[in-house]
Amino acid sequence: MTENLSTHQAEEDQRNEAILIYLNGEIVPKERAVVSVYDSGFMLGDGVWEGLRLYNGTWAFIDEHLDRLFEAAKTIDLDIGMDRDQVKQAVLDTQHANNMMSDAHARLMVTRGVKTRPFQHPSLSQRGPTFAIIMEHSCPNLPRPIRLATVPHLRGLPMTQDPKLNSHSKLNCILACIAAEKAGADEGLMLDVNGFVNTTNACNFFIVRKNSVWTSTGDYCMNGITRQKVIDLCRANDIPVFERNYSLVDTYGADEAFLTGTFGAQTPVGDIDGREIGDGEMGPVTKRIRALYKDLIAQECA
Ligand SMILES: Cc1ncc(COP(=O)(O)O)c(C=O)c1O
Repeated sequence: MTENLSTHQAEEDQRNEAILIYLNGEIVPKERAVVSVYDSGFMLGDGVWEGLRLYNGTWAFIDEHLDRLFEAAKTIDLDIGMDRDQVKQAVLDTQHANNMMSDAHARLMVTRGVKTRPFQHPSLSQRGPTFAIIMEHSCPNLPRPIRLATVPHLRGLPMTQDPKLNSHSKLNCILACIAAEKAGADEGLMLDVNGFVNTTNACNFFIVRKNSVWTSTGDYCMNGITRQKVIDLCRANDIPVFERNYSLVDTYGADEAFLTGTFGAQTPVGDIDGREIGDGEMGPVTKRIRALYKDLIAQECA
């Protein structure tokens, strides 16, 4: 059996040992970028985050990412303490301090801040918020298509920790990933509450059947920015695309399958629950969509 992979695997880059981190208005060396054990994020996973990618000097789709960050913060009633321009400036300041031009990934994290006592009530979070940006040199590097395993952990209904929230607590997704690894796969394929195929623990999921692209209805999964770009690209390029319910029967029988996310763009899937998808390699529709997305990034980040 080949070694397990992570969908967020990147080439080793020694420069990441010496990066600078943005923390509450300061830019500090990695080893000094520490938060309190009383931090709401550490203690309870009480915070939200966003992942962005730098191509050719431009943070791709940054306005959409900031919309999602501010929307998530509003949903959990968390005041970021900065406006959008200030957040953008913090990203740029961190980028320049790290002398990064391209192939970098940023994780923006904001938590309810430092608590006075180690208990859940949000009113105990009195110092904050805590705002951090980790920015790393990052070239995604996957030696083979990803293997998925269906896991018992579901994408829940919106009234139970809405799966559209990029919350710090990702325990449901982490348990899904652990179950997949124990089944010999790289990432977990998660079903929705009705048993339809929905998404993976860290990426959005697509299949290709007879040259048509299918993805879930969008209920129960992260409203992925890359997911939406892929749907828009299909529509603009006469590739039939459907947001619909479908089951494991449709999935095992698909000609191709791929994942989407800011980190890896489009990642081919070669195997699901021990069933080879197509010939187990990246298929022609996935290749075409990857090329279209690359062109889109080249325009966006010219
Ligand atoms: C569970 C989950 N699905 C999908 C995605 C991909 O979303 P995006 O394309 O906006 O990076 C993410 C990333 O935030 C995620 O956490």
